[in-house]
Amino acid sequence: MSSVALKPNASIAGWDEQAPEQAFTLPSRYFFDDQLFKDERDKIFMKGWHLAGHRNEFAEPGQYVVCDIFDQSVVVACNNEGEIHAFHNVCQHRGNRLLETRRGNNTRILRCAYHSWCYEMDGSLRSAPRSERLIAFDKQDYNIPKVRVEELGGFIYFNLDSNAPSMAELFPGADEQMKKVFSKLDKMRLIDEQDVIVPANWKVIMDNSIEGYHFKLSGPCHIDLASLIDFKGYQLIKRDNWWTYAAPANMDATHAYGVPLEGERNPEECFFNIGMWPNNTLYTFPYSQFIGTFIMIPLDAERSLLRFGYYSAHDEVPAVTSECMRWMNEELGPEDIELNVTVQKGLHSIGYDQGRYMIDAERSNESEHLVHHFHKLVFQALHGAQA
Ligand code: FES
Ligand SMILES: [Fe+2]
Repeated sequence: MSSVALKPNASIAGWDEQAPEQAFTLPSRYFFDDQLFKDERDKIFMKGWHLAGHRNEFAEPGQYVVCDIFDQSVVVACNNEGEIHAFHNVCQHRGNRLLETRRGNNTRILRCAYHSWCYEMDGSLRSAPRSERLIAFDKQDYNIPKVRVEELGGFIYFNLDSNAPSMAELFPGADEQMKKVFSKLDKMRLIDEQDVIVPANWKVIMDNSIEGYHFKLSGPCHIDLASLIDFKGYQLIKRDNWWTYAAPANMDATHAYGVPLEGERNPEECFFNIGMWPNNTLYTFPYSQFIGTFIMIPLDAERSLLRFGYYSAHDEVPAVTSECMRWMNEELGPEDIELNVTVQKGLHSIGYDQGRYMIDAERSNESEHLVHHFHKLVFQALHGAQA
């Protein structure tokens, strides 16, 4: 295979033609440059699918979730007919933002706080005070523009681009994979959500989450995690626009997350993660019975809102599961966040521009091929397939 070997500080043309085994990483500026960040907004996030929540968060009329991405805000809601709709979070009178709270229940009518225009929970205008006095005021002309919604693997996503390919086209097989790995998918309900602002570019966080190279080489929580999985069976598999990284559980483990493991073992017990372009990750940890969502929402070029969601089918969450969530929030998560923060600082050094992906021919459990693949998607979204 012919390869283009780019030296540090070389021109970026041809970056995506490098052979993965010999490739140099994306230059540092891709992780802090404001213009590149603006381009990511337009070319990646304004066209991408964004997780809104599990279907059960929109089961009852009046349930809604507000999702902010860059300067855009979207309401995903269940209307009075029990249908899920998404619409822009903006009043059609003078542009007031309608909802500021992240979630709500039983909100049957959306009333603008400014002049009381009222909307149904599908965004259609219901009433506008004094509008009967106006000439040529047709309520239908002031319905809030809709946003596309789709369901994949029990979760609801939205897309701000009406021409974007569907999730089925972009992520063929992902729905089946979700249903295969996550049991009781249709019974899941949100039990916790934690937002953390991380002073790091969203890609720094993603990069950290899609390689196993650092598992046994970084902090103590990572070594604990590695001990709970059958690391030899850890596989990181790329598809065009989605990826999985998964391993069977270490069936010899006696404790997990500080809790003794008792009772029968599920032979399907596993560490499983599924990622969908650009920033959606859903996962589960060995011996825990939850689905975690792990979403890095860009705030600016060097800050991201990292959102940890936890879903369970249990009314009473088992002790290992609740300890696992605590461990993720208080131990493993912060250990990774610290690495993300120090990487972000290091990327500014005039002593660094491009490193080398550690990619082996076998695409082993410690190979960084998913990081390279993810960067290639970023690069191609920004510059086209051939820069
Ligand atoms: S801006 Fe919403 S009613 Fe006036
Ligand atoms: Fe990590």
